[in-house]
Amino acid sequence: EELELAGHDHFMHKEIHEQPSSVERMLGGRLDDRFGSARLDGLRMELRELRGFRRVKVLGCGSAYYVGQLGATLIEDLARVPADAEPASEFRYRNPVIEPDTLYVAVSQSGETADTLFAVREIQRKGGRVVGLVNVVGSSIARQCDGGIYLHAGPEVSVASTKALTHMAVGFALLALALGRVHDLSHADGARILAGLQALPGQIAEILADEAGIAEAGRRLADARSLFFIGRVRGYPVAREAAQKFKEITYRHAEAYPSSELKHGPLALIDADLPTVAVIPDDDLVERNLAAAHEIRARGGRLTVITHPGVDLGDLEADRITVPRNERELDPILLTIPTQLLAYHAARALGEDIDRPRNLAKSVTVE
Ligand code: AGP
Repeated sequence: EELELAGHDHFMHKEIHEQPSSVERMLGGRLDDRFGSARLDGLRMELRELRGFRRVKVLGCGSAYYVGQLGATLIEDLARVPADAEPASEFRYRNPVIEPDTLYVAVSQSGETADTLFAVREIQRKGGRVVGLVNVVGSSIARQCDGGIYLHAGPEVSVASTKALTHMAVGFALLALALGRVHDLSHADGARILAGLQALPGQIAEILADEAGIAEAGRRLADARSLFFIGRVRGYPVAREAAQKFKEITYRHAEAYPSSELKHGPLALIDADLPTVAVIPDDDLVERNLAAAHEIRARGGRLTVITHPGVDLGDLEADRITVPRNERELDPILLTIPTQLLAYHAARALGEDIDRPRNLAKSVTVE
């Protein structure tokens, strides 16, 4: 019965709305209050082994890669272990150097993406250790990995992924916490992140309760032939995933840039016909992000801003979407939620086939 629409018009909409309860389910039993850490038995790793990794490399395709970028930032933030993400589809073809003290992380909803599976095999062939962040239990990638974290998002039918991506981000937070607590993350900071994780389901529900306002902003974006999504540092992977979602189901050209890169080229394209969705969290970069937004307005570009309650937009003319604050490391998870609804409602206004976009398959199992 989980595969029925349950009163929603599309699976994508149903899956977006499942997130508060699915995230709560995912966290169940994995939060270790006593040590301010995460309980991840599925990694099949002793604490001492976990402590031995000096680098983390994340591999995934498409949206899983974008969330992987977010995950790498989380790992660097919490564990202070150098981490980066790369498309598995590139990695597997470039004869990568495999290091014994690097923890490789393969991330996939379906667990059947051919490029990611081959990347895992390539790493293992050269002696590397790979853990999986996978949704589908018993899938090829889940079986191939040396251990992992199941995402427990439940079945995802919509080709455009939503809840599985949120679960990947939460999975990275758990992994970052576990890695952090065997490196330099204090018990107090671990407890702070645990509290942030526990707050997520309620805060996602709060964002979804504001769907009418987000839908209105989404419909206003539907008439654009081309759009920019911008964000800085933690906000950049949010912008990348938001652009991906938008192009998958609206067939509009949507491109993500780091806000800091605008003046190095893309600003030339801004005019009244090219709207921008800007991710502006209430963090130490807020003034810089607001300055970029003003640059866009000064050139006649329309703006939709995804931000926090404390951020004063002043005289900046923009559609404002406000999400609750969490811990700064976890904020990107919440900033992504409205972008799912923006894409959904724009595509709906355009009358597109939301659950089965043209030219795309739910999982790419062939090369
Ligand atoms: C997401 O909306 C996309 N349909 C796509 O980029 C997807 O994330 C990618 O193909 C990876 O799939 P996987 O998570 O099943 O490996």
